[in-house]
Amino acid sequence: MRVSGAVALVTGANRGLGAEFAQALLDQGAAKVYAGARDISAITDPRLTPIQLDVTDPASIAAAAAQAQDVTIVINNAGISLGDPVLGDETALRRHFETNFFGLVGVTRAFAPILGANGGGTLVNVLSVLSWIHRAVGGYAASKAAAWAATNASRLELADQGTHVVGVHVGYMETDMAAHVDGPKTAPALVAAQTIEAIETGAYEVVADDISRQVKAGLAAPPEVLYQLPVRTAS
Ligand SMILES: NC(=O)c1ccc[n+]([C@@H]2O[C@H](COP(=O)([O-])OP(=O)(O)OC[C@H]3O[C@@H](n4cnc5c(N)ncnc54)[C@H](OP(=O)(O)O)[C@@H]3O)[C@@H](O)[C@H]2O)c1
Repeated sequence: MRVSGAVALVTGANRGLGAEFAQALLDQGAAKVYAGARDISAITDPRLTPIQLDVTDPASIAAAAAQAQDVTIVINNAGISLGDPVLGDETALRRHFETNFFGLVGVTRAFAPILGANGGGTLVNVLSVLSWIHRAVGGYAASKAAAWAATNASRLELADQGTHVVGVHVGYMETDMAAHVDGPKTAPALVAAQTIEAIETGAYEVVADDISRQVKAGLAAPPEVLYQLPVRTAS
């Protein structure tokens, strides 16, 4: 579909990748961009339409859906990364899932009928290279793996209404979330540009950087290779 003339909603649009998505959509001629944020005072660009949206709050999602009945592109971008291992603090694990999985699914459930009524449209889910490999930050990685599964399932479940579902995989980006990380990071504007291209071309997946491409290419390797495990022998 064409972004020019489309009506988009971006979750977590007040900073980081979400703010880049909002700008990229405007630059490509979107007719309206709803900038979802927990605190709408952070949305200062007058070309954007601020919309209060906490993806962990069903009432907030329902209110946003009631307000934004004209949406044809939904970008599930909001996410958190707390750094906890999967077997660490259970509260942190549940927070990861509340935002990165149930938040994404909740927004999808609320907006899928709107996309369908408006001709099908596009749903974009921001995932991670950690949807595929889980060597670190296990709680976050588990939630992104679950979100990848939901993306693939949603694509099939929404096919009959003509909704194009795009999964976006990327390693570290230059945003607050990865501010503590040294090493290569991708500019969020590059990820936004590749995602706009996928919306327009109909691609199902954005594999946005070298690390994501390498990990995807290596997934057929056995666990001892992927996770550098000792080779176990029969005892
Ligand atoms: N940065 C990376 O290295 C990296 C790598 C791979 C994937 N990603 C993914 O990329 C997406 C964007 O992350 P980012 O790097 O831009 O992170 P970020 O700079 O930390 O921004 C996160 C955004 O999500 C919003 N958010 C968090 N919880 C929310 C909730 N309950 N309801 C609504 N909005 C909420 C934040 O809003 P507040 O300002 O209110 O907190 C903020 O706008 C996330 O899905 C993340 O998992 C990031």
